[in-house]
Amino acid sequence: MAKKDAQKRYFIITFGCQMNEHDSEAIAGILESEGYIRAEDKEDADLLIVNTCAVRRKAELKVLALIGRLRPLKEKKPEMLIAVCGCMAQQKEVAEYLGKRFQHLVDLIFGTFAIPRLPELLQEARDKKGTVIDIVEVDEGREGILVKREDDLKAWVTITYGCNNFCSYCIVPYVRGREKSRNPKDILREVKQLGKEGFKEVTLLGQNVNSYGKDLEMEITFAALLRELNKVEGIKRIRYMTSHPRDFTDELIEVIRDGEKICEHFHLPLQAGSNRILEKMNRGYSRERYLELVSKIREQIPDSAITTDLIVGFPGETEEDFADTIDMVERIRFDSAFTFVYSKRSGTPAAEMEDQVPEEEKKRRIAVLIDLQNRITRELNENLVGSVQEVLVEGVKGEDPDTYTGRTRTNKIVNFKADDSFALAKGELCLVKIEAEQTWNLNGKYLKTI
Ligand code: SAH
Ligand code: SF4
Ligand code: F3S
Repeated sequence: MAKKDAQKRYFIITFGCQMNEHDSEAIAGILESEGYIRAEDKEDADLLIVNTCAVRRKAELKVLALIGRLRPLKEKKPEMLIAVCGCMAQQKEVAEYLGKRFQHLVDLIFGTFAIPRLPELLQEARDKKGTVIDIVEVDEGREGILVKREDDLKAWVTITYGCNNFCSYCIVPYVRGREKSRNPKDILREVKQLGKEGFKEVTLLGQNVNSYGKDLEMEITFAALLRELNKVEGIKRIRYMTSHPRDFTDELIEVIRDGEKICEHFHLPLQAGSNRILEKMNRGYSRERYLELVSKIREQIPDSAITTDLIVGFPGETEEDFADTIDMVERIRFDSAFTFVYSKRSGTPAAEMEDQVPEEEKKRRIAVLIDLQNRITRELNENLVGSVQEVLVEGVKGEDPDTYTGRTRTNKIVNFKADDSFALAKGELCLVKIEAEQTWNLNGKYLKTI
């Protein structure tokens, strides 16, 4: 089987979140075990895959524009197979629309459940005239897939697939299915293997990592899983994405405090500061509960960083509700925030809600929010000037061989100078004295390797 496809080249273009990036690594792994090799660029590919994101309209528009631009390439190279997959493709109406709009251009459309079926789908797409579509929600599991990782220092490891939260604005539960935890043994085996291969950092992936294990028959929690993973040899840092503020237990805070590999970075999407809006969003916590969680974390782990996601312009968001979001941002002082303008996703409850906020007003609110958050991010970074931070070296920064780049345990980027008498290797942990800040990164000077 592998022989037949020898020399065929693939190229994957990925949109969206880490989950999607990691799915592309699984797709690459499948293709390589089928004998494909990676193409240098899309012009050079025999198979071009576009892995899409549906979380906001803007993400979808980017994908549509990109696919449209592939037409001249396909005309020049008609034997090239073009496939569209991922979260956009998983939606029935969108898959049908893509099939019609990009007839004779897209050969295969497959959803997030179909990744393990890719070899057969490719065969079908080669044999058949017209577009092949597989958006069946049958989950065959992914344990056997040999993932082809992009990086050799940091690795993503899925711990749960899907989401059961149904936040009222969000499309993810509809395109990724119900929450499904991986067996802890499989996760542990994968992380141990990564440690042996020389990876230094793992990021555990799930839409709501805190609910890990709830669907399994055995007794296991996210806190217990972290405790086990903290023992794995070779791995120096453990991160996770995303944790839901509703399910963050005291036990979990303690495990993070005590686990020397578990980074003190909490990404806790707040989404909105008003209780009325939080309830309409179906988030399952109040502003008071969220504040309580933040103070517990800061009490237990004073040097931690807290980051968040915020949405402005959710249906019915009044000036007062928005002021509540601003108030939370001022009180909590997040290290940084991803800020989004609410985007109507067809099929979600919020899309049917009345009082959609006018675009102009959403734009005004997001500008106010971004200004405030940038100021806070900068002030917090200023406070770090003079401190000594543990940095995992990721490589050389730009042209200058003596300037390195890496991240702190709290996930801040640090660019730093080291003496030119020796070279630092990617994957080394070192101490860096912070000397200056910019909004998005810190600058410093190498002290010593640890
Ligand atoms: N599971 C994660 C993240 C999912 S999507 C979580 O629960 O936090 C990443 C972010 O996109 C969300 O946190 C939310 O802030 C944003 N988002 C999701 N749907 C959106 C929509 N319809 N409009 C605007 N932002 C949205
Ligand atoms: Fe979407 Fe909410 Fe699930 Fe996150 S927790 S993926 S925001 S439904
Ligand atoms: Fe991720 Fe976008 Fe899908 S954010 S889960 S790729 S909709």
